[in-house]
Amino acid sequence: MRALDLSSLRRPIVGAPMAGGPSTPGLAAAVTNAGGLGFLAGGYKSPDQIGRQIRATRTLTDGPIGVNLFVVSANDADEEELEAYRLELQVEADRHGVELGTPRWDDDAWEAKLDVVRAERPDVVSFTFGCPAAGILRELDGRGILTAVTVTDAAEARAAACNGAQVLVVQGPEAGGHRATFDAAAEPGTSPLPELLATIKATTDLPLMAGGGISTRRLAGEILDAGAVAVLVGTALLLADEAGTAPAHRTALQDPQFTGTAVTRAFTGRPARSLRNRFIDDHPITAHAYPQIHYLTAPLRAAAAARNDAQALHLWAGTGYRHTRGGSAAEIVAALTP
Ligand SMILES: Cc1cc2nc3c(=O)[nH]c(=O)nc-3n(C[C@H](O)[C@H](O)[C@H](O)COP(=O)(O)O)c2cc1C
Repeated sequence: MRALDLSSLRRPIVGAPMAGGPSTPGLAAAVTNAGGLGFLAGGYKSPDQIGRQIRATRTLTDGPIGVNLFVVSANDADEEELEAYRLELQVEADRHGVELGTPRWDDDAWEAKLDVVRAERPDVVSFTFGCPAAGILRELDGRGILTAVTVTDAAEARAAACNGAQVLVVQGPEAGGHRATFDAAAEPGTSPLPELLATIKATTDLPLMAGGGISTRRLAGEILDAGAVAVLVGTALLLADEAGTAPAHRTALQDPQFTGTAVTRAFTGRPARSLRNRFIDDHPITAHAYPQIHYLTAPLRAAAAARNDAQALHLWAGTGYRHTRGGSAAEIVAALTP
């Protein structure tokens, strides 16, 4: 059983995994059918849902598909800091008549999700928020699954290579959504993607996918010329017909009242890039309790979505979001291919 060779893709475009709705079987299959590599997002879903989504994607494409999993984050929250943020958010909750969520830690069903990918054998499994133990990577490799680990600096790249990752996903600070930084408490690096890619390329011979802020064919070309085997695009696909992006998120991405993006821990406790809005400005927190803060804010975010209040929603978006266009994923992938 030979693992996928990324250099054989007809188009060197990877549809980034996007948890929370945007990644669907339809989107993953459409990116693959367009000649790229489509991903499903395993984070937050139940193991059964992931299994069903993999099987659904297989009915829509004969080509390769990837699945992304969240590596378990350390359970090292500062309880005082967390309680202070809970009290701060209580004001928002009272204003909107919402009960805050219970700030609990969990491992996102790590073992059960590994069992799903062992059984379903997607072509690629990528990991974010950390690097699995060498034994896990070796075992998936033995099943013909290409393993990819997302890295945000040279030290993470060395650690992932050392544990046996077959591919590195280099994520620049321009990226929409969560930074993949292994340590949730660490402040993620700020070297722009081209610089980061050059730094990591100098440390390893592994194939590198690279993403973060890639929104035009020219940028995609520059990153490929700099030695990436494929570019990873997330934000550029958020308005695709096949994406499951929430209506309020779709509207906000096209709304001129948003004048840029910001990196915030306010929604989940991990740094993530979103369209800059009122919630981010009101809560410049440093608490790194992940996923506790994700659960704490979940009812606030659900209520904001229900009343269509984009100022209180997490609106994940990369720095290139202004170039994001609607249309089919095939059209978007073709438009980005150098
Ligand atoms: C809405 C959204 C959700 C995301 N969810 C995930 C995820 O579940 N797992 C992951 O590894 N990366 C996730 N990311 C990050 C992407 O994989 C990728 O690094 C990023 O989209 C690349 O930058 P770009 O958005 O500027 O193209 C997400 C990004 C967005 C925009």
